[in-house]
Amino acid sequence: MCGIVGYIGPKEAAQFLIEGMSKLEYRGYDSAGIAVFDGHKINVEKTVGRLGMLEKKIEQAPPKGHTGIGHTRWATHGRPSDVNSHPHTDCTGKFVVVHNGIIENYLHIKEKLIEKGHTFTSETDTEVVAHLIEEYYDGDFEAAVKKVLAEIEGSYALVFMTEYEPDKIICTKQDNPLVIGLGEGENFIASDIPAIINRTRKTFILSDGEMAIVTKDSVWVQNRQGVPITKKIFEVNWDAEAAEKGGYEHFMIKEIYEQPKAIRETMLGRLAKDDSSIILDELKWTKEDVAAIKKIVIVACGTAYHAGIVGKYYLEQLARMPVEVDIASEFRYRSPLVDESTLAIVISQSGETSDTLAALKEAKRLGARTLAVTNVVGSSISREADQVIYTWAGPEIAVASTKAYTTQLISMCLLALYIAGLKEAIAPERLKELIHGLKELPAQAHELLEDVEPIKTFAQQYGFNEDVFFIGRSLDYAVALEGSLKLKEISYIHAEAYAAGELKHGTLALIVEGIPVIALATQKDVYEKTLSNIKEVKARDAVVIGLAMQGDEQIKKYVDHTIFIPATEKYLTPILAVIPLQLLAYYAAITRGCDVDKPRNLAKSVTVE
Ligand code: F6R
Repeated sequence: MCGIVGYIGPKEAAQFLIEGMSKLEYRGYDSAGIAVFDGHKINVEKTVGRLGMLEKKIEQAPPKGHTGIGHTRWATHGRPSDVNSHPHTDCTGKFVVVHNGIIENYLHIKEKLIEKGHTFTSETDTEVVAHLIEEYYDGDFEAAVKKVLAEIEGSYALVFMTEYEPDKIICTKQDNPLVIGLGEGENFIASDIPAIINRTRKTFILSDGEMAIVTKDSVWVQNRQGVPITKKIFEVNWDAEAAEKGGYEHFMIKEIYEQPKAIRETMLGRLAKDDSSIILDELKWTKEDVAAIKKIVIVACGTAYHAGIVGKYYLEQLARMPVEVDIASEFRYRSPLVDESTLAIVISQSGETSDTLAALKEAKRLGARTLAVTNVVGSSISREADQVIYTWAGPEIAVASTKAYTTQLISMCLLALYIAGLKEAIAPERLKELIHGLKELPAQAHELLEDVEPIKTFAQQYGFNEDVFFIGRSLDYAVALEGSLKLKEISYIHAEAYAAGELKHGTLALIVEGIPVIALATQKDVYEKTLSNIKEVKARDAVVIGLAMQGDEQIKKYVDHTIFIPATEKYLTPILAVIPLQLLAYYAAITRGCDVDKPRNLAKSVTVE
């Protein structure tokens, strides 16, 4: 994830910028850069690669000056490269900007600016911001920034500097964090607290829509209308390690809580404003392209494979496409029936999983069109595939995948609806309803995360059981698979997921008194059938935790405990239903004293066969 730092004061800015950026390294990045005002002009130094490469680059002649901004980039728009690294400048080099987030309408703005004669050097969305401010500047930096903000759409933390008014740095934010650190005769800016806690512990956090004008002696905060805002200053008392985790105990729980934001970012710019269509500019398929696809194969590993199973439901039911899903390590050795009329979709958070990469190459060798759904720009899988849909979840550090999974589901849903639209396989009204449902998800995920106490209690109550079963039908079964994997990998509890109707064909023999069974019952069309399966396990004295949709009063009669998710469209339930299961796994692992972020025997990126 990108990181931002800024400094204004009496000391050498570059020193703080490099130090601050090094504290943000844990977030993952692929390039780094700084811009420092030397008293006459702004000097920019940036490079693809680790921070060490930037330090080496500036070792002989570090940029001198007391005002500067810096950035570690985690590529979204445009691959990792020197020119795509931040800071970005306008045509004159007199304005610089660093940015976290995504400028949704950048293509439109870019076209307009090119017509006006601006020359772009990078593939990024951010560069439009630098050119826009050049366009609007007429002697008032603050007014120009306001005009830029009125034009851009999307999510951002933006920090600006200009040679014309070098005594100030201006920053603002929308849906991306930005912190101001207050020193004596110096002030600091950062996207995250770890960057500044070595220098000051007096901080405040900017809120959405606020703009801060930072000089060495003052920080003025106002809203877009220019109304002054008094911020509450707080003393950070976290240690450096806690600060990296944003005050959370583990990266996994931090990433679980990042899901509302991650889900929103995955959808950013991809849903038409009037809810009438899905915009996937990275594909730009025609009706003919879709008509040429006779079969889709989805290939992935682990959690990504589970996202593929949900993807199959989406593509079959919404877009009426025939779909096979396979585990990558199986697919590559089974002589799959794949040819030019096949679309092979590989799903991979890291984009580096060896089995998935090999499966992708095999599908290509057989002539398939290939599409990667991945989180990492410039990864091996993104480079190998014909086309890519990025999930934009931000870096995932905990070994157990959480926000990567939910954003993979969103991506698969968008793809299915995109194909359905092109095929006219879905009624416009139904498409609207689903898009509307998608738009509600970030707030609903947030709501779910507000009350975790009951889940903590279940985890404490059942965390010492050696076996747990998950059952569900249809999409609930797909989510059950992911819930059981989460529990296994971080709490080491033996967990199995079964299609609820399959229990009686063998597994029911394992259901005995006191065994916890987590029964997912969010799917209306198979609800009664699921209730029958719940009765089957209750009759064997299992302890049943029912996971159902808010408003379902009936379930309470059949289960011992309930977990409710906010009411949503049937296709969108997996995105919400998995969250309590992630939390259950997390708190069970805590109860058992497990190393949550680094479970035994597992690695984050599996680059061996
Ligand atoms: C489980 C988990 C793994 C990964 C799998 C594929 O929590 O993280 O099962 O999903 O190793 O990894 P990617 O998605 O990077 O290809």
